Order: sequence, then structure tokens, then C-alpha cells
Amino acid sequence: MRHLIVNSSQLLMMNGPDRARHGKEMQPVGLVREGAVLIDEGKIIAAGLPDLVQGHELAQDARLLDAGGRVILPGFVDSHTHPVFAGPRLKDFEARLKGKTYADIADEGGGILSTVNGVRGASLNALTESLRERAGRFIECGTTTIEAKSGYGLDVENELKMLRAIKAVNEAGPLELIATFLGAHAVPGEMKHDREGYIRRVCEEMLPAVAKEKLASFVDAFCEKGFFSVEETKRIFEAAAKAGLKPKIHAEQLSRSGSVPMSVTAGALSADHLECIDDADLPQLAKGGIVSCLVPGSNYFLAKPYPPARRLIDAGAAVALATDFNPGTCPCWDMSMILSIACTQMKMTPEEALVAATINGAAALGLEKTHGTIEPGKTADLVCYEAEDYRELPYWFGAPQVAWTMKRGVMVHSRREYRL
Ligand code: NIG
Ligand code: FE
Repeated sequence: MRHLIVNSSQLLMMNGPDRARHGKEMQPVGLVREGAVLIDEGKIIAAGLPDLVQGHELAQDARLLDAGGRVILPGFVDSHTHPVFAGPRLKDFEARLKGKTYADIADEGGGILSTVNGVRGASLNALTESLRERAGRFIECGTTTIEAKSGYGLDVENELKMLRAIKAVNEAGPLELIATFLGAHAVPGEMKHDREGYIRRVCEEMLPAVAKEKLASFVDAFCEKGFFSVEETKRIFEAAAKAGLKPKIHAEQLSRSGSVPMSVTAGALSADHLECIDDADLPQLAKGGIVSCLVPGSNYFLAKPYPPARRLIDAGAAVALATDFNPGTCPCWDMSMILSIACTQMKMTPEEALVAATINGAAALGLEKTHGTIEPGKTADLVCYEAEDYRELPYWFGAPQVAWTMKRGVMVHSRREYRL
């Protein structure tokens, strides 16, 4: 289906180099007033000034889509989520409200391990169904691609089950899910006295099984006191490299372990969380290919200090924003809420936040050549926002204002009143 989108108030093209935007490069959003977009067979053919786009030869018989004076931007790329789980963690939530910390709760057998029990007890069908339902909520909020981690199975059978659920929901569409194997999320209860045995199992059994079925693009590890050390994480990354999986890392979340240099050397696409970095980490995060993926919804939900977004951007880092959607630290799938938190709590500008949620999210997943901007040749993943000015996205918070979402050139969600 060919579409010609006209009559936007503002089109945010995010045009520029096909790579993560660093430091000051995060400021321009490629704003075109009343910009138009021409789409054919799921790809963007032309975008920009309305006269130019409407004059394109393929525009003549395209279906006209009136944006009604609203903002059009690339679909959000949420580059860090844990969306496969059986149910919420309300006991942990209440315990924290009474003063327990995330680490206390984990030590007492709650936390990640309680979600592991739920996932192990759920069938592949049940996990797939609940993930499919959640995928629809991401789409309703304007998110067109997510990274989706395993990590609540913690044995071969259940990690594969989670990844198969992700694969099934990705294949069903419309949400695109990029899978990450997170076997090193925690040591499971049955192996708590044999962590070495568990790490060997991750490296020698789980990773090869995941690779054999081509179930994940990335590997991740929770590099944190009480979870996995820098040395252990490095071993896992080395085994993953042999299996063809690229690393991402939960780094410096609750305490500083000094994992940044190792992550850069291992070629990690992103280092995520980064609440506890210090100045010595900034130069390494600023240069080179690594994206600093911040997930401030988790800080909001745990009532913990926010990561130093300003210091990172001012030092020249490429910051991405993601939800970290999961039942323990961030039960929120709405990227516009994350944009709002990023601006009000971390003092990112609206422009930086939008770049972080689109092209830099894409770069954190190695998708910078195909996703995250509205440029000819890119995948036609777009969101139309119920706003005249893009700064309204982080401004109106708590209720997503998406008019419609388009994935690969197909309208996959629209508010009832539009019925597009
Ligand atoms: O990103 N830190 C580790 N993993 C998740 C939390 C997972 C959970 O609590 O279930 C995070 O915050
Ligand atoms: Fe996480």
C-alpha cells in the first residue's frame, strides 16, 4: 500500500548520519514544518517539504493520509525491556513502600527469582499470549520496535521457552521484537551454592542452544554485586562471541563495579542503567561505538537517584532512553512517560530525549541503518502524536497522546475517532 502523509504540524525526520548521535548531535531533530512523507511497500520513499514530496512521481496514486495538523515522528525504539513474565510483583512493591530495598527483597527470595518461579510454571502458550497482549500496548503508545530479554527462566528449557515466546510474537507482528539472551540475570535458587556451575551452564549449554535455534541477537548480563562480577560477565561475553551473539550489559545500576572498560573492549552495543558511574567512566562512554542506555522509569519506580544524563551528554556520549519494562523495577511500557521523566528529572532537552528514544535506541540495537529516522530507504515506522508541537510529548505526562501508529507502512493502531 502506498501512502502520502500530508498536513503535519511538524515532521521530525531525525535525519543525519546512520549512527548513534553523540553529545551536541543529539540536539537537532530534523524539524520540517508541515512536512510530508511518501511510503511504498513498507519503506519511506520521500520525506520533507510538502511540495517536494507531493511532486514525487509515486505520490500521484498514493492513498492520502491527513495528519490533521499533528506531529509526526519515527516510531519509538525501546532498546531495553524484560517483557516476558507471568504476573506483577505486588508483594515486592508493597515491601519497598515499607522501606525494604530492591537488594533486601532479592536476598529474601523475592525479586527476580520470584518472577523465575512464575515463568517456570507457565506454558509457552501462556507466556506467548501475555506477551502478545503487552506487545499491543507498546504499539498503542507509539513504540514500533523493542528489545526483549529472556532472563526469568535461568535454565536451558525455560530460557529457550522465553525466547521462543519472543520469536512467536515478533513473527505475528506488528510489534518488532529483537531478542536478547539474559541467562546471567541471577543465579537460580537450585544452584545458589554452585555459581561456577551456573556460569558454565550459561556458557556451555544455554548459549550454544540459543545460537543453534537462532533465538537471540544479543547477550546481556546483570553485572552487579550479588549477581555477576566483571570477570564473570567477561567470560560470558567471550562465550557469547563464539556463539555469534553481541553483548549488551546491565552496568553500574545499584553500585559501581567498574564494568565500563570491559564492556567497551568486548564491543558491547550498549551499557544500560549507569546510575553509579563516576567521572573516570565518562571518556570511555563518550568515544567509540557504545550507547549509554538510560532507563529512568526504574529510578522513578524504585525512588532512587537518576543516572547522570547531563554529564554523559555534555561529555559527548550517545544516550538512548528505554523503558526497562519489567515486573520488578519498571512496570511501564510508555515511552512518552520516560521522555517526561528524562526531561524533568535528568534535565535532558525535549530534542535530546526524542533523539534518545528513536535513532539512538535503534543504534543500541544495531538498527541505525534501517530504523529510528524518517528518511528515504528507511522502514516506514511512524507515530502521529496528538500535539501541534513536539515539546508536548514530554509535557503532557501520564496519558499517552498517540493518534496513530504505523509499522512497516501499515496502520497498526489508531484512536477510535480516526479509524484510518
Ligand atoms: O533492569 N537489573 C536487573 N534487571 C531488571 C530488573 C528485573 C527484575 O527486578 O525483575 C532491571 O532493573
Ligand atoms: Fe533491565
